[in-house]
Amino acid sequence: MIPVKKSGAKYSAIVAISEELKKRQTAGEDILFLNRGINAVVNIDLSQVIPLIDFNSPQIQVYPPNNGHLHLRKSINQSFFHNKADIDNIFVTVGGMGALDLIFKSLQVSKVWLSENYWGAYINALKINNINQGFYKNFDEVLNNLEQFKDSALIICDPNNPTGNKLNDEYLLEVIEKLDKAGIIVIWDSPYRKLFFEWEEDDFYTKLLNFNNLIISESFSKSVGLSGQRIGFVHSTNKAFNEELNIKLLYATNGINGFAQVLVSKLLTTDVGKKAVSEFKRKTTEDIRKNIAYLNKKDFLAEEFYQNGNPIGIFVIANKSFDELLTKGIGSVPFSYFTTMPKEQADEYTRICVSVPHDDLRKFFDKF
Ligand SMILES: Cc1ncc(COP(=O)(O)O)c(C=O)c1O
Repeated sequence: MIPVKKSGAKYSAIVAISEELKKRQTAGEDILFLNRGINAVVNIDLSQVIPLIDFNSPQIQVYPPNNGHLHLRKSINQSFFHNKADIDNIFVTVGGMGALDLIFKSLQVSKVWLSENYWGAYINALKINNINQGFYKNFDEVLNNLEQFKDSALIICDPNNPTGNKLNDEYLLEVIEKLDKAGIIVIWDSPYRKLFFEWEEDDFYTKLLNFNNLIISESFSKSVGLSGQRIGFVHSTNKAFNEELNIKLLYATNGINGFAQVLVSKLLTTDVGKKAVSEFKRKTTEDIRKNIAYLNKKDFLAEEFYQNGNPIGIFVIANKSFDELLTKGIGSVPFSYFTTMPKEQADEYTRICVSVPHDDLRKFFDKF
């Protein structure tokens, strides 16, 4: 018998939904997969970028530096921080999940607080790392009860997964400033943001550099549509935290895939790369906007989730149940997978991915 160290974490229940939907498709049903968490309006066209990569170079063939290739860390500094960060504070990771796992492994906190509508994987990644979780309702509640959040960390995901809600940037910065002053660790995990912003104009991340208790967890899975490449990064200005993270990164990975790092770096720095990213973002966000406007007009959007912000995607909450949507061939995920709301109430809603071609979404929802 092999003795197993059980963490108590569960394999993603969403996978089972996806398998069930695929079965229906194989049996001949016309299915629209809005249960997924990827951008599916278009794929990023890499045909002009690949010829720029020298596959006979050490960058592709030899162990990369532990914290990531210098060229990639420099290009992340340029694209996210307008060159204002210290590249020694940037650590390339295995996507966003790898970034979060390293952060959870390296942080000494009594609890990690999640928003009441949260990405389910946080719970399992925390469980594997033996960290308790709590839930916050909104930032007003947090700021009025700062004592309760001492010795802990709080995750901010904006635009939010699952709701797609985006809060005002100035408000977010005010909240972060107060948390930072109170010594509460903020984990900024917002991998959807950069899809919706012009990177050169967006100075939000540069402003985040002012906060010593803030850790950024990022990913290129959504913003450039490369979830297959598994590239993300962590940024923190805290020396002791970075030292520990760097050690954990070494023994978890021995360096991150060289090809993927070169590819992302080319996307961020070369003209053809930037053009590919910009086209991908333009086409993707255009259809996301159309889809949300359409759902809103047809009263499919659960407006109650957008009272303090705006639905921008890539997900929204629909006011239809999983079964109701499935009668029209639409795959979704019951909202109860993502919320502290009582199950019977949550099951009246679903999380749907709106990053799909507008004509497809329209065709299926017009069946109602
Ligand atoms: C909020 C959030 N954080 C992190 C991640 C993980 O990113 P990655 O796919 O790069 O591991 C996801 C992926 O769905 C996510 O939704």
